[in-house]
Amino acid sequence: MSTQAAAASNKDRVFIFDTTLRDGEQSPGATMTLEEKLQVAEALDEMGVDIIEAGFPIASNGDFEAVVAVAKQVKNSVVAGLARAIPGDIARAGEAVRHARQGRIHTFVSTSPIHLAHQMKKTEEQVLEIISATVAQARNLIDNVEWSAMDATRTPIDYLARCVELAIKAGATTINLPDTVGYAIPAEHEAMFRSIIERVPGADKVIFSAHCHNDLGLAVANSLAAVRGGARQIECTINGLGERAGNAALEEVVMALRTRGDAMPYDTEIDSTHLSRASKVVSAAANFPVQYNKAIVGKNAFAHESGIHQDGMLKNAQTYEIMTPASVGIKETTLVMGKHSGRAAFKDKLKELGYDLGDNAFQEAFVRFKDLADRKKHVYDADIVALVDDEAGSV
Ligand code: KIV
Ligand code: ZN
Repeated sequence: MSTQAAAASNKDRVFIFDTTLRDGEQSPGATMTLEEKLQVAEALDEMGVDIIEAGFPIASNGDFEAVVAVAKQVKNSVVAGLARAIPGDIARAGEAVRHARQGRIHTFVSTSPIHLAHQMKKTEEQVLEIISATVAQARNLIDNVEWSAMDATRTPIDYLARCVELAIKAGATTINLPDTVGYAIPAEHEAMFRSIIERVPGADKVIFSAHCHNDLGLAVANSLAAVRGGARQIECTINGLGERAGNAALEEVVMALRTRGDAMPYDTEIDSTHLSRASKVVSAAANFPVQYNKAIVGKNAFAHESGIHQDGMLKNAQTYEIMTPASVGIKETTLVMGKHSGRAAFKDKLKELGYDLGDNAFQEAFVRFKDLADRKKHVYDADIVALVDDEAGSV
């Protein structure tokens, strides 16, 4: 579905908050230079990302400068800067994002018992006071304030509801309930959002957001479950880059909503034809390879080797593809020639290479091709040309 079609459809809009430049960059080894960050921000802005989290301004002067530079460059997206629930952090984030056409301060504090006891060494009541004071401080600096309950999914629901209520009262406009350690499972995640949204006064005045980590491989499933529970913002990263096992992958979230719109009446305003390019930009910038079988953007995501699949693809692409390569910006499906390929794919390949063999010559060439494929991991076009030409020359 094109951007225009998404906007025109009567589906509920889900906002995409990309944190490749912040949570993604926290992936070990994924540090990016200022120039690389600007390239990533440009790709995100162009594809229609609603909010770009550009960095953590208090973390270093470099991070501050990067947020300022992204804020100045970005044309359409909101630009967010992260801040702990500490006055100095919030002031610094405010200073950085004020350069944006539309800026956001994103402030967070832990709410789970384990974080309160061991990391923060604070009581529940102390954290409640911190929430009110820091969200109010951020709101005095800017109208667009996101508050996150770090480790929300391991926080008792009654206490989480009290925290959210205070954040809303203090002026937060987006409430994010992160699955910081990737602990949630989809049904539970959906129920958490539904319960908080139903019981907290003022919940209907703010946007709820999901931020899922992939420790159990459930980040995308949990993000979609959160939307079913009432969230309307998903925080994600290109290629699923992020701490440990990463964050929910933007391209997977976007294409799951678009491809299965029949089952989920929600959509984003992302122009999905930019996904493949964005994946390459981020992979190069973060020096982080994309696994071959990565959904949507991996090298094999639209490649088929099995003879049965190749035969089906040649008859009708929908037999083995649920979305078109073009819809994610990939030129075409690849039929990989190998020992699993059948006659139909071999014939198609010969045609592509300019050969039109008679029946007998074709059968002989196919036998030689299978023999070669058994011995060789990759059968390239040049191998097939050699195989046909050698035989023609020997007649
Ligand atoms: O995972 C997390 O909890 C975070 C917060 C800072 C939003 O990244
Ligand atoms: Zn995170």
